[in-house]
Amino acid sequence: MKWTTENMPSQQGKTVVVTGANSGIGFETAKAFARKGADVVLACRSLDKGEHAAGLLVRLLSNGDEAQAGPGGRNASAFARRELPAGGSVTFMHLDLADLASVRAFSQAFLERFPRLDTLVNNAGIMIPPRSETADGFEMQMGTNHLGHFALTGHLLPRLLEAEDPRVVVVSSSAHALGCLKLDDLNWRRRCYCKWRAYGDSKIANLYFAGELQRRHGKGLTVTAAHPGWTATNLQKNMCLSRPLNRMFAMEPWQGALPTLYAATSRDLRGGEFVGPDGCTGLRGYPAVAKPNKRSQDQDMARRLWDTSEELTGVRYETH
Ligand SMILES: NC(=O)c1ccc[n+]([C@@H]2O[C@H](COP(=O)([O-])OP(=O)(O)OC[C@H]3O[C@@H](n4cnc5c(N)ncnc54)[C@H](OP(=O)(O)O)[C@@H]3O)[C@@H](O)[C@H]2O)c1
Repeated sequence: MKWTTENMPSQQGKTVVVTGANSGIGFETAKAFARKGADVVLACRSLDKGEHAAGLLVRLLSNGDEAQAGPGGRNASAFARRELPAGGSVTFMHLDLADLASVRAFSQAFLERFPRLDTLVNNAGIMIPPRSETADGFEMQMGTNHLGHFALTGHLLPRLLEAEDPRVVVVSSSAHALGCLKLDDLNWRRRCYCKWRAYGDSKIANLYFAGELQRRHGKGLTVTAAHPGWTATNLQKNMCLSRPLNRMFAMEPWQGALPTLYAATSRDLRGGEFVGPDGCTGLRGYPAVAKPNKRSQDQDMARRLWDTSEELTGVRYETH
């Protein structure tokens, strides 16, 4: 059976945070949750793009006609909760994962405003930008894709653990196979920078994090990981020949979001499972349980990355 959003259970009454929800897979993920009745928080770094995405979602889900929707509206005030006619709501809140102060501020604002959190989708990501650093001096891909999400999840975990069936989904990539962490040089200060290796490092870090979070807090929490195969989005903007390659190989964002949505909502999955497209190359298809590489299952490395991440971010998870 091909799993699609038709198979997604109702999300009414649930609160869902999606990082990087203004674009690509995150936007489609937020749309599917909102369509199923969830209160969805779009956690985005750009005020303009976040507002635009929130306005567009409301219009798409209000008249159901995507072709008619046009560009997003700016008529609601920033950070306002927008109710949807069929239940649920959409709220944009500012979050820059490349700045730990912003991650803290987002988390405080979220915790003050929302009494519950059922599902956290750690989706936002960047791929192979020129070498740069986050506000806290982390290599940009590791800082955004892993460390920012590590800090965010740590801040929100107590609220997640109060929910009935809380879930965290970590969006990784088949490029985790390029990753080989050097914990004593996570920020690439002592090595010649390789942007693809750094992306692979951040994506294998996502898998170590998902596995370790499940082992440490899995009694009350289901943690899954997903990868979207190859999906045409803004992610490829730094890649040569991305347009022709996308035309030949890539899926549309709605389909690329399916592994994330399956990982976030399927009752058939156990914590720790990895979901990706079922095609023979793993680049296209419908969601199915996927096999991460052997290196990503190294529990000693996962433990040591956890300790390093706590040290670098200053976010210490409560022990249960
Ligand atoms: N597309 C693929 O084929 C593919 C394959 C494997 C894995 N993935 C993973 O899928 C996830 C989603 O990517 P996508 O393909 O949908 O790409 P995308 O369209 O570029 O979306 C990425 C999102 O992350 C946001 N983001 C980037 N840096 C951020 C920061 N510092 N703070 C907060 N948000 C930030 C972006 O915001 P802006 O719009 O402001 O830049 C955007 O909303 C990523 O984790 C990516 O690694 C994608």
